[in-house]
Amino acid sequence: MSAICGTDRPPVDRRALISLLKRLKSPEGQADPYPLLADLRSMGDVVRAPWDAYFVTGFDACSEVLRGRNWLAPDFAWQERQADTERWEAVATQEMTKTLSRLNAPEHTCQRRSLGNLFDRSTIARLTPLVEEHVTRLLDELAGKLRWGEADLVSTVSEQLPISTIGSWLGIPPEDYAHILEITHNQVHAQELLPTKKQLAVSAEATAHLRSYFTELVKQRRANPGNDVLTGWIHTWDAQEPDREAADEILYRLTMFVTIASLETTATLLSAMVELLLKEPGRWAWLGENPGYIDAAVDEVLRYDPPIHINTRIAADDTVLAGVPIAKDSMVHVMYGAANHDPRRNEDPDSFDVRRSGTHLTFGGGVHYCLGAALARLEARTLLTQLLKRFPTLRAVAPADYASRLVFRRVTSLSVAT
Ligand code: HEM
Repeated sequence: MSAICGTDRPPVDRRALISLLKRLKSPEGQADPYPLLADLRSMGDVVRAPWDAYFVTGFDACSEVLRGRNWLAPDFAWQERQADTERWEAVATQEMTKTLSRLNAPEHTCQRRSLGNLFDRSTIARLTPLVEEHVTRLLDELAGKLRWGEADLVSTVSEQLPISTIGSWLGIPPEDYAHILEITHNQVHAQELLPTKKQLAVSAEATAHLRSYFTELVKQRRANPGNDVLTGWIHTWDAQEPDREAADEILYRLTMFVTIASLETTATLLSAMVELLLKEPGRWAWLGENPGYIDAAVDEVLRYDPPIHINTRIAADDTVLAGVPIAKDSMVHVMYGAANHDPRRNEDPDSFDVRRSGTHLTFGGGVHYCLGAALARLEARTLLTQLLKRFPTLRAVAPADYASRLVFRRVTSLSVAT
């Protein structure tokens, strides 16, 4: 029995919190979540959730959770101790629990090591011309559509660039891209804070498709090895895992997870980048005249509007976070968006300013730090460079539309014209 009983603490005005979460999920809340997240942060750095968990809103507290040894990913051992079996034993949840992001040491260390530094400087240098080519092709398509009026940036460019990039890097045939995008969008529901039965069912179906697709991809690559990254992973795992079936299972999980981890996240970054830069008159033109700020602009977008808003960790032991006692096994929801807008870390946080050199937690921190950060930045920088050159008079026709989500932000459409 734990010495600290988290449930004894009175919740911060539970009704106000539930209403805030509902507003956050609404179209208005998704279009501009930051005033609502500021309200949440004003309730404390660590706020009791209406369920058995805590929201962590302050930058330093979030950083402590991500980097501290006291905090673990919600792995199988933890899930087995939970009462909500419908949620934690759901197929889609269990399948995600086998992936890198939900593993703890020693399995996490072993699998992560097998991947190495996926996008080190030399790999990024090698991938740069490839990403440039994809961007040029996608912007040719955008130009073709804009000739007739407005076009949707999301479906034409933002969703296509990440799948084209990861697809050519892993050797996924282009004719499969649409299928992978669809199943990725459907899988994500299981990772929401409180998925409904219906959402878990949609995710279960998508999970089965992901399993059969990526298992087959690994099998095909075994049969036809090439000079590609997946063939390299096959060699690595064959050398360290004598059981071929076990090796193939890990290879499926790694390939599937690296793919889906790269898609919605990067697409949201690309769409949010264009939206934010077109929002204020003059921003787009200024950046076109000052391209030296492109990298800074990408990082300010990452700070201002992180594609992932929440990540969950578990207290490994009874502990205290930002003065709040937290019992072993409690869930804490790290709120990246709230943390990045913490005025104690970034002054005047709600103003978007490419010259600010701000700090953010958008790619996480500690042992689970995002493996694809350099690739996401490459895609954003390359797209922005070409967009500014080719479409200096680009404008948004209407505000972007967002999916109703709390964890993974998703821009569903952004109409642009010149
Ligand atoms: C803007 C785009 C992206 C964002 C915002 C993002 C964000 C994140 C975050 C927040 C985490 C969890 C970190 C933590 O738990 O501390 C993560 C993990 C991960 N990301 Fe990304 N990501 C992006 C793009 C990518 C891309 C392009 C790839 C691969 C090509 C990728 C692969 C991964 C992997 C494999 C992990 C798991 C690492 C681990 O658990 O050890 N991500 N990412």
